[in-house]
Amino acid sequence: MNQSSPFHIYFFWGLLSLWVLCTSSTHKCVVRHEVADCSHLKLTQVPDDLPANITVLNLTHNQLRRLPAANFTRYSQLTILDGGYNSISKLESELCQKLPLLESLNLQHNELSHLSDQTFVFCMNLTELHLMSNAIKNIQNNPFQSLKVRWKGSSPYKKFKICYLNIKVKSKKTNLTQISPGCFHAIGKLFGLSLNNAQLTPSLTEKLCLELSNTSIQNLYLSNSQLYRTSNMTFFGLKHTNLTLLDLSHNNLKVIENDSLAWLPHLEHFFLEYNNIAHLFSRSFYGLLNVRYLDLRHSFAKQSISLASEPKIDDFSFQWLERLEYLNMGDNNLPGIKSNTFMGLIRLKHLSLSNSFASLRTLTNETFLSLAQSPLVSLNLTKNKISKIESGAFSWLGHLQVLDLGLNEIGQELTGQEWRGLENVVEIYLSYNKCLQLTSHSFALVPSLRRLMLRRVALRNADSSPSPFHPLRNLTILDLSNNNIANINAELLEGLEKLEVLDLQHNNLARLWKHANPGGPVHFLKGLSHLHILNLESNGFDEIPAEAFKDLLELKSIDLGLNNLNIFPPSVFDDQASLKSLNLQKNLITSVEKNVFGPAFRNLSNLDMSFNPFDCTCESIAWFVNWINKTHTNISELSSHYLCNTPPQYHGFRVMLFDVSPCKDSAPFELFFIINTSVSLIFIFLVLLIHFEGWRISFYWNVLVHRILGFKEIDRQPEQFEYAAYIIHAYKDRDWVWEHFSPMEEKDRTLKFCLEERDFEAGVLELESIVNSIKRSRKTIFVITQNLLKDPLCKRFKVHQAVQQAIEQNLDSIILIFLEEIPDYKLNHALCLRRGMFKSHCILNWPVQKERINAFHHKLQVALGSRNSIH
Ligand SMILES: *[C@@H]1O[C@H](CO)[C@@H](O)[C@H](O)[C@H]1NC(C)=O
Ligand SMILES: *[C@@H]1O[C@H](CO)[C@@H](O)[C@H](O)[C@H]1NC(C)=O
Ligand SMILES: *[C@@H]1O[C@H](CO)[C@@H](O)[C@H](O)[C@H]1NC(C)=O
Ligand SMILES: *[C@@H]1O[C@H](CO)[C@@H](O)[C@H](O)[C@H]1NC(C)=O
Ligand SMILES: *[C@@H]1O[C@H](CO)[C@@H](O)[C@H](O)[C@H]1NC(C)=O
Ligand SMILES: *[C@@H]1O[C@H](CO)[C@@H](O)[C@H](O)[C@H]1NC(C)=O
Ligand SMILES: *[C@@H]1O[C@H](CO)[C@@H](O)[C@H](O)[C@H]1NC(C)=O
Ligand SMILES: *[C@@H]1O[C@H](CO)[C@@H](O)[C@H](O)[C@H]1NC(C)=O
Ligand SMILES: *[C@@H]1O[C@H](CO)[C@@H](O)[C@H](O)[C@H]1NC(C)=O
Ligand SMILES: *[C@@H]1O[C@H](CO)[C@@H](O)[C@H](O)[C@H]1NC(C)=O
Repeated sequence: MNQSSPFHIYFFWGLLSLWVLCTSSTHKCVVRHEVADCSHLKLTQVPDDLPANITVLNLTHNQLRRLPAANFTRYSQLTILDGGYNSISKLESELCQKLPLLESLNLQHNELSHLSDQTFVFCMNLTELHLMSNAIKNIQNNPFQSLKVRWKGSSPYKKFKICYLNIKVKSKKTNLTQISPGCFHAIGKLFGLSLNNAQLTPSLTEKLCLELSNTSIQNLYLSNSQLYRTSNMTFFGLKHTNLTLLDLSHNNLKVIENDSLAWLPHLEHFFLEYNNIAHLFSRSFYGLLNVRYLDLRHSFAKQSISLASEPKIDDFSFQWLERLEYLNMGDNNLPGIKSNTFMGLIRLKHLSLSNSFASLRTLTNETFLSLAQSPLVSLNLTKNKISKIESGAFSWLGHLQVLDLGLNEIGQELTGQEWRGLENVVEIYLSYNKCLQLTSHSFALVPSLRRLMLRRVALRNADSSPSPFHPLRNLTILDLSNNNIANINAELLEGLEKLEVLDLQHNNLARLWKHANPGGPVHFLKGLSHLHILNLESNGFDEIPAEAFKDLLELKSIDLGLNNLNIFPPSVFDDQASLKSLNLQKNLITSVEKNVFGPAFRNLSNLDMSFNPFDCTCESIAWFVNWINKTHTNISELSSHYLCNTPPQYHGFRVMLFDVSPCKDSAPFELFFIINTSVSLIFIFLVLLIHFEGWRISFYWNVLVHRILGFKEIDRQPEQFEYAAYIIHAYKDRDWVWEHFSPMEEKDRTLKFCLEERDFEAGVLELESIVNSIKRSRKTIFVITQNLLKDPLCKRFKVHQAVQQAIEQNLDSIILIFLEEIPDYKLNHALCLRRGMFKSHCILNWPVQKERINAFHHKLQVALGSRNSIH
């Protein structure tokens, strides 16, 4: 019974929560101030239980296939209905009947394919309709006609805000043959129309444009619509529009007749890429006086064997494009640039002629003459098979900042005259050319250069003196990679204080860092105080001088991968505290030690040391493994590419699994050793101390305890004691005692000893009376002989009593008189007394010689007279 009750409770709660879940599942819409948000709920039906007075219903991002009018009976107050991002394929005209107040209907991103002329017939208050991204196949009849008719009296164009109609033609077979008159006017403020992939052909395009006449259309997309030629009538209808963007790409367009674009004076962006223009006439672009961006990539007919079909560009063809700033003519097969080709492009800033010419071969001082009027900022000449740049080739381009000459076949000595006139150039990209030979003057005329790319150009004479790069004081990026450079000197990069990125990978610089190098290692990085990124991959380095990276304080990334480095000098990375990325993959590194890598690892975000032959011993990698386990640095493929090479038993073992516990970090180990040794020594000392001096410790401990517990020194005056001393002796020694102590009493009347035989009644040894007598005596004298050691009563009781008394009173109260030589250990063993417990003047030895007996008596008197205290 008791055991099952918790189950009942859980069961009950389960049922309750299930019930809550079930009932709330239809209620997930968020309703606030007559606005119901039912978006993102995977709804397949319109909810029927929302408050009837809602005015906004958001049904976006659900799985609705229809919007049954009957489901909206309840929500007659709706003014905004958003049904975007569903799968609605049909719209009932009755919907608007149920929603007489509807002003905005959004059905973008659905699957509407048919809009009949009845669709919006009841939508009398509708001012906003979004139909973008549907599958509307054609615009036959006029679905918007009804709207227009109803609005006639009340200026419908103004009321209708935005309608972006994107007619997505899914199937290429769709044959759009008819466009009903007035169909776009009904849309009112039509902003953009996309008819990509519709088979418009020139004639239908002409019709379309006529329909668009006087609309507010700005963007018209007619990509891939079979517009293979344009005439002076094709875009006539757009005369009275403000069209700013026209996309005619992918049309196989062969002919742009003179003046055919004259109707587009507002056009700004013009896309003509991927066409087949055989001949650009001098007036083809006439009238495009506002175009700023023109894309002519792949626009011209591909070259065929016969020269007659080579595309032609008439002189002055571009002169009408007064506002053109960006022109891309890449990926064409143009025959060349004539002296008037680009005449009149007085605003042109960016010109791409990448892969534009079948063969440009030589750039002469006349090639770019037609661009002399253009304020060109960037010129892209990649992939044109250029083999030679003559002096003054760019002398017309005084504004040029970026010059891309990469991926050509340039093979020449750079005298420096090539760049004459490039007074503002910031970047020259020369990578991937045939062969470049440097001189000291190669870049003397372009001191403004900041980025110079010379990758894989079979660079020669990099060791010219003075350095070819010496004039480039503002250089920030220098790429000299993939050149197999073996000879450079220390002055190569001298003075390039602004250099931030240096690419030297795939060269042959190993000799420069060898100790055996005649004249010692070459410090070619010296003084590059702002260097951030350094790439030295694949250079065959097997040695690295301790000073290699000295003073490179801002270095963030070093790539030394694919070299033969094994031993790093300690502190080689000491100046690299700001390093973020270090690549040392595929070297011959066996050990990773703190004194080398500590500074470099401090702020590292990325480390690559994969594929090194790690020596998995404590000395070599214990610190590294500890660091790996603590660090947040990203070390990719740690488990697969960091394997031990040696010792043999660890070969192939994962570095990260190396057990460091037997190693211990050296610093804590030293500390541990010190503590451990100290503890042992102290322990040994204590053991020895207790062994040899334990009695003394416990004795003084007792004394101390008594002191602390408040036993005051009982230092009574001599007259307070009945006896001067209680004499403890063995029974066998009684004669000696009698013989020697009674004469002393006779001599000094004030002196009185307590002698058991005399002062105890009838010689009865009552324990109690012994205690009392000891207490009444100022001192206790032990007459120590072999006999005493054997005397049972003395051993057990008297000594204890006396010592107790002594502790309570004072240590001076005990006097030991040795009649025989007794070793200390025997004394301790028999009586638990030691000589060391007592002051030396309290220990007296009975002299063997008779003449010294007087001195003994004197000593005894001193001992008897001394105050009872420890000093
Ligand atoms: C919506 O209408 C359909 C028929 O048009 C009906 O089957 C369905 O039950 C209605 N749903 C709600 C939630 O009213
Ligand atoms: C709308 O209906 C809800 C309940 O269905 C009610 O609480 C709310 O006050 C109503 N709002 C107005 C403006 O009548
Ligand atoms: C409906 O919800 C979606 C997503 O939550 C939002 O982007 C859209 O603007 C909303 N529509 C209306 C009319 O508020
Ligand atoms: C349109 O909406 C207004 C209120 O905004 C309303 O007065 C008018 O009756 C509606 N028109 C029709 C035809 O229902
Ligand atoms: C498109 O329709 C027109 C007239 O209806 C016809 O002449 C033409 O052949 C059709 N085109 C295609 C590709 O079906
Ligand atoms: C074109 O733009 C001008 C100026 O902005 C404006 O006055 C004119 O109405 C616009 N034409 C059309 C058809 O929208
Ligand atoms: C179009 O060009 C033809 C000659 O090719 C000419 O007769 C006609 O007048 C031009 N039409 C317009 C509108 O300029
Ligand atoms: C071009 O260079 C040639 C010599 O190579 C020279 O005769 C000619 O005047 C130069 N032309 C211009 C426009 O500088
Ligand atoms: C030049 O054009 C090529 C091809 O389009 C491109 O990859 C390269 O980035 C361009 N160069 C510059 C400097 O923009
Ligand atoms: C180098 O850069 C500085 C600062 O940007 C600039 O003032 C100077 O003119 C540049 N030097 C050259 C030769 O362009």
